[in-house]
Amino acid sequence: MDEAGLNLADVAADARRRLDPTRWDYFAGGAGGERTARANEEAFARRWIVPRVLRGVGERDLEISLLGSAVSMPVLIAPTAFHRLAHPDGEVATARAAAEAGTVMVVSMAATRRVEEIAAAGGTPWFQLYPQPDLEFTTAVVRRAEAAGCRALVVTVDSPVFGRRDRDLRHGFVDLPPGMVCENMRDATGQVRDIEMDAGLSWERIAWLRGVTTLPILLKGVLHPADARLAVEHGVDGVLVSNHGGRQLDGALATLDALPAVVEAVAGRLPVLLDGGVRRGVDVLVALALGASAVLVGRPVLWGLAVGGAAGVRHVLELLRADLDGALALAGATRPGDLGVDLIAPAARP
Ligand code: FNR
Ligand code: LAC
Repeated sequence: MDEAGLNLADVAADARRRLDPTRWDYFAGGAGGERTARANEEAFARRWIVPRVLRGVGERDLEISLLGSAVSMPVLIAPTAFHRLAHPDGEVATARAAAEAGTVMVVSMAATRRVEEIAAAGGTPWFQLYPQPDLEFTTAVVRRAEAAGCRALVVTVDSPVFGRRDRDLRHGFVDLPPGMVCENMRDATGQVRDIEMDAGLSWERIAWLRGVTTLPILLKGVLHPADARLAVEHGVDGVLVSNHGGRQLDGALATLDALPAVVEAVAGRLPVLLDGGVRRGVDVLVALALGASAVLVGRPVLWGLAVGGAAGVRHVLELLRADLDGALALAGATRPGDLGVDLIAPAARP
């Protein structure tokens, strides 16, 4: 890394200089007019914190427990496709950084390295699944993730069809360059299949999946409180409030704005996670104060990867950790569990 970057905006600017515009735009872009992609970040700027003082914050601990496992901080790595477009080591570098940082990487089904090599880099990865209409193939992918040592399945439910992304259309970006494929889409014959967005996907398939695996199942892409209640009824293990970084339905509610109603609907029965627009430690603090158990970051990890491979991703994670640690102290908290809605100014509460 030439310049380490003092914050994630610096890292993004550095990544932008290094990446060719087609790749930058694939990573940075959203669907349609990119209203939702922008709104995710803007939603954090509308919250104000009312800090507590004189609380003896000398000993702080960012560790949380998630699905029964310890995670060193409430910041995980969201599943993003095609890491080899950012760095030749691809997802293996990201996994190494996650392992060193003691956090979880969610491996995308559209990863450009094999889940076995990614898991072998260390850590406790989770696997993101787009259930395929071919149930036998879907089962085989789940078995591969299980055998590789993935600890949870993150089922993406916000993608019955693929979002229309103008930047990609403008560049004519439709396929990976020669030599790169979605390594986890190989069938029994070694043939790489295209990922299908299954427009027929419904709750029935979630019930089916519950019978296929004993791994914890999280649903990624829940924004509506009624869906959060259905998730509880279907026996899943967590929900992830996400709008896919604004890459699917443009106009979908910002995730931070959707969070409180989902938290209320779930009523403590499941962990609620959030992704979208988290760029500062204080954003993590605000999401946790509004009821999230943890957050995930997508694009910032890709920027770090483009700038410096595993070291670049590690830098991004450590920036967020240090920033969150400082924000906790300044807000009068020592642990993520101390954060409550009372820290958010009432006028700025949703
Ligand atoms: C994604 N996201 C995503 N989600 C998913 O379930 N499977 C995937 O393969 C991908 N791929 C992907 C590629 C790229 C380039 C981006 C930017 C995003 C969505 C991702 O998991 C997450 O929801 C958002 O990235 C979170 O928003 P931020 O942190 O990027 O603002
Ligand atoms: C994306 C897909 C792969 O957002 O999820 O690009």
